[in-house]
Amino acid sequence: MFNLNLFDIKLETNTIGRNFIYLDEIDSTNSFLLDKNNKIYEDGTVVFAEKQTRGRGRMNRIWYSEPGKNLNFSILITNKYFFGKNLNLLNLGVSLAAANSIERLSLLHTNVKWPNDILINNKKTAGILLEANSHGSKIERLVIGIGINVNQTSFKGDFNYPPTSIKLECKENIEREKLLAEILNNFEEMLLKIISKPESVSVDWRNKCDMFGKRITVKQENKLLTGIFEDIDDSGYLILRTQKRKEKIHFGDVRIA
Ligand code: BTN
Repeated sequence: MFNLNLFDIKLETNTIGRNFIYLDEIDSTNSFLLDKNNKIYEDGTVVFAEKQTRGRGRMNRIWYSEPGKNLNFSILITNKYFFGKNLNLLNLGVSLAAANSIERLSLLHTNVKWPNDILINNKKTAGILLEANSHGSKIERLVIGIGINVNQTSFKGDFNYPPTSIKLECKENIEREKLLAEILNNFEEMLLKIISKPESVSVDWRNKCDMFGKRITVKQENKLLTGIFEDIDDSGYLILRTQKRKEKIHFGDVRIA
């Protein structure tokens, strides 16, 4: 069982997670926050579920997670500052905040993979899905969904990238309450940093990514690109050096070629 008291003691934020909704089961925590019928408006609301029956991943994939073992949650952002060009930086910032939190609690080394996966020993331990509700071309609410494999020890099925969990890598049970509070604490700090020192976010992200200069493939729906992972730009887009030119990549699945 998730100990709400322990989580509350460790939470040091002003906004993020102060409105905390704990659910035993839901289709998807992202869908829950995107659904206006649920009438949730408070900035920084966090919805946490022990079980998702239709957990979603990036590029229309299913997100599998064993009930009661992991962290599956979504954060509502209503601050319009993050809706424009800072959106991609936010994407990088979330993975950075979560990766740093995992390191702090497990003492493991983590890496980030563009755009927002977290790897331990080259296996995926967490994924992030940003989704928005729009009215015309205007974003009305932004939802950041985070799935972290914490104490799950077996993974069955087909995965786009080899999966792992924190427990599998450090051989110890991790207190989910402490990890969640740590992530939300770090995430709130990250939001302030994106506003005050955005360039430092991409610098920190670069330091946690070991793909620079490597030959990679980028899979985009029905297109496959190959080239060198040259850099990320100030907005967090990937710069791929192909044989012909440098291409700015907005989305896709990246892997070492
Ligand atoms: C990915 O790596 O493809 C992203 C996975 C995101 C999964 C999380 S779990 C909580 C939230 N609710 C969802 O349905 N998806 C995200």
